[in-house]
Amino acid sequence: MKDNLLSRRSFVKMSTASVAALSIPAIMNAAGNSSDVPQTPQTPQTPQRPQGQMPIPPQWLPKTVSPGWDAGDADSFTRYYFDSLMLESRYIDSDIPSTKLNLFGETFDTPIMTAALSHIRGTADESGLAVFAKAAKECNAVFWMGTGSDAELEEVVATGARTVKIIKPFEENSEVIRRIKHAEGLGCLAVGMDIDHSFNMRGGYDIVMGQRMKSKSTSDIKSFVNATKLPFIVKGVLSVADAKRCLDAGVSGIVISHHGGRLPYAIPPLVALEQIAQTVKGKMKIFVDCGIVSGVDAYKCLALGADAVGVGRHLMFLVQEGVDATAKRMKEMNDELAGVMSATGIMSLDKMDPTVVHHTIL
Ligand SMILES: Cc1cc2nc3c(=O)[nH]c(=O)nc-3n(C[C@H](O)[C@H](O)[C@H](O)COP(=O)(O)O)c2cc1C
Repeated sequence: MKDNLLSRRSFVKMSTASVAALSIPAIMNAAGNSSDVPQTPQTPQTPQRPQGQMPIPPQWLPKTVSPGWDAGDADSFTRYYFDSLMLESRYIDSDIPSTKLNLFGETFDTPIMTAALSHIRGTADESGLAVFAKAAKECNAVFWMGTGSDAELEEVVATGARTVKIIKPFEENSEVIRRIKHAEGLGCLAVGMDIDHSFNMRGGYDIVMGQRMKSKSTSDIKSFVNATKLPFIVKGVLSVADAKRCLDAGVSGIVISHHGGRLPYAIPPLVALEQIAQTVKGKMKIFVDCGIVSGVDAYKCLALGADAVGVGRHLMFLVQEGVDATAKRMKEMNDELAGVMSATGIMSLDKMDPTVVHHTIL
């Protein structure tokens, strides 16, 4: 028992530092906006990103970790929860599965999408968002874009990637609607808002790229839904209460997410997913992001009720290595997902079964 507790503690510590290794603001452009990056303390070193999956071997980890690093760190709780979920196998009558995703009238090869990022560093020739978008297109995966200028959105859409544009909760709803119309005019797949970025977490509204944010009401969200022909998605839902409000507002989907730990002690998205799915599954699309680093993590989200998942920081550093490196890892993750599907007797995404997943305390 003691050994278990010790190994659990050391696992949590290690995965916390692993997340630190993946979220160093060194990835950002000089002009980037640090308030949008999941809140993780800066570390004095910038370890190189290893290939493959987390957990990252100790030699890659920063040597110094800020005091209080563990306090309330939602990323580490999220990782721990993922690893507490075990899978049973179902080989008999199983076969090679399909990972095709039907979403908003279009078909994609994988339910593993890019998370909505912004300000990411690219290669010598291309912006980070353009590389990320091309990698998603290469995998026939949905590409999500976070905050950014009209020109940046035009650049990613021009890559041919099927794009979901996430708009900030700008103080003025007229600016939100202007951006919705812009995305609609460009032919985006869907549009949405990260409602979890209205507050600065110090008792005020946040300011992003010099623009003031403001929290949104159910009726604000309804007005965004009514302003567009595109599916409207709310990102940053972590409670049944907000999910019900989204249902009332008529949204087409929600992203269950803590935005990489914006709220200290935020529950792991998978905890919220299980509760939310009981209420809204089938009435809107359910997406999940935060801490997904493998096809197995993706599988757990899908089994517990998600329609598709987003991967951010795990792919982010590969973007600097180019389209092929990023697409390669996305395809590997999809292969990992397919591998677990075949071993658990799940032949397609619509046949996912939550009873495959066992909640255990290691
Ligand atoms: C560099 C960076 C920029 C981000 N920018 C945005 C953004 O503009 N809009 C948004 O909704 N989320 C943004 N996010 C949050 C991600 O969409 C995602 O919720 C978060 O990173 C958790 O997923 P992950 O653990 O796979 O990285 C950003 C994250 C990072 C790391």
